[in-house]
Formats: sequence, structure tokens, C-alpha cells
Amino acid sequence: MRFDVFTLLPEVFPPYLQASILQKAAARGLVEFRIHNIRDYTHDKHHTTDDMPYGGGGGMVMKPEPVFEAVESVLGAPPACPVILLTPQGRLFTQSVAAELAALPQIALLCGRYEGFDERIREHLATDELSIGDYVLTGGELPALIVIDAVSRLIPGVLGDPTGAEDDSHASGLLEYPHYTRPPEFRGWRVPDVLLSGDHARIARWRREQALRRTLLRRPDMLATAALSQEDRKFLARLETDGEGGR
Ligand code: ADE
Repeated sequence: MRFDVFTLLPEVFPPYLQASILQKAAARGLVEFRIHNIRDYTHDKHHTTDDMPYGGGGGMVMKPEPVFEAVESVLGAPPACPVILLTPQGRLFTQSVAAELAALPQIALLCGRYEGFDERIREHLATDELSIGDYVLTGGELPALIVIDAVSRLIPGVLGDPTGAEDDSHASGLLEYPHYTRPPEFRGWRVPDVLLSGDHARIARWRREQALRRTLLRRPDMLATAALSQEDRKFLARLETDGEGGR
């Protein structure tokens, strides 16, 4: 899958992309990252990418010309793939949006700086808008890295373990069960006996119940849309009548 990122801060991307599992995925040809500096598509002496807002008010606005030129010269006019604007006004980026994007061969991510974009970028260049949460950052670069990371790890082969992404928190609509590794006892805290039992059916049941218990306690809103079996529902009903969410 190919990611084209358009930004005024291209230097922030390589340190993360080269230090993570994503670098290995890129070396194996599973993902490709192309980072484009919007400033390279300006033509004035000062390489201007922003200007004052019409109508007055504080802050600067990203000019449309370099942004359109950058995207269209790399991806064609109209662009040959979705062009996603990172903005706090976008639809919320969730695990299911990540899965939706991971099925595509290519996406472009457009990172804003300053107070925002000229509205014509949003209306006539972007095909989608994503927000990573209800808070405002200084730009779209961290959100773009978050989208790249969450989407890339869903591409088959990117994670070492082929089942790696299946049990993730959110992938199944539930929070994930707790994990333990050696030693079996640390500072007096023991790993639950069931995990040492070698009984795979019991372990699977324990993990499912832990995921249900944890979701009920921390994110009960997620239970409304999770795929739950009859047995899951009985277990949850029992937890609720016992007044026990556990920990
Ligand atoms: N740019 C600034 N804040 C953002 C957010 N929360 N999500 C996406 N892009 C942003």
C-alpha cells in the first residue's frame, strides 16, 4: 500500500517511519511512504504557503495554490486515490476506519498547519476528512503518522505474527484481555493459574471473559455494537447482577 503525505514539516516523518516495524514493512515492499514538501510547490521568492484570512481575524491560512499543485503534480488531476485531510473537523478515525483504509492500494494524507486550510482545499481537493480525536494539535503531522501506523499494521505481513491484529483492543469490538509473560511470579504477583494450565479451551474462555469484563468496566459503550454470543451475553448479565465488573 502506498501513502503519499503532503506537509510543510517533511522532516518529522522519517525518524518515526525508520525506527519502527514500518521500516521493515517498507523494506519488504508491503508499504511505501512518499513524503512531499508543500513548500517545494511555491513559485515566489519567499516560498509563501500561508496568507492572512479574508474578513480579518487572527492566524494565518494555508494558501490553495501550492497545496493543489503539490497533490496534482504527484497524483494527477483529479488525483487517482483518496485525498484525506487531517483536521479536528473530520470524521473520527477509529479501528474500523483503519480497516477500511487498509483495503485500499493507495491514499494521500494532507497535513494542515497554521489556523487551517483555505476552504477550497477542503471542498475541491480533499475526498475525506479525518480527526484523531476531540482535541486540537498544532498540525496534521502527528495525526497522519497515527493513521499510517494504524493502517499499516493491518496490512497482511506487516506484523510478524499473522494473527497479531486479530485480538487487538477494538478489532473485535471489545477491549483486549490482559497479557502475561515470564516470570510466573514477580514481586509476589502471580500469573493467573489458568494461563499456565495448558488447557487451550479454558484459556480461550478466560480471555474472552476478561475482555468482556474489562470492556463492561471501562468502555460499556462498546458493548452496544460488539459481536456477542449467547454465552457472552449470559456472562455479562451475570457480572451485572453480581454487581461485579472486576478489574
Ligand atoms: N489537526 C489538528 N488537530 C487535529 C486532530 N485532532 N485530528 C486530525 N488533525 C488535526
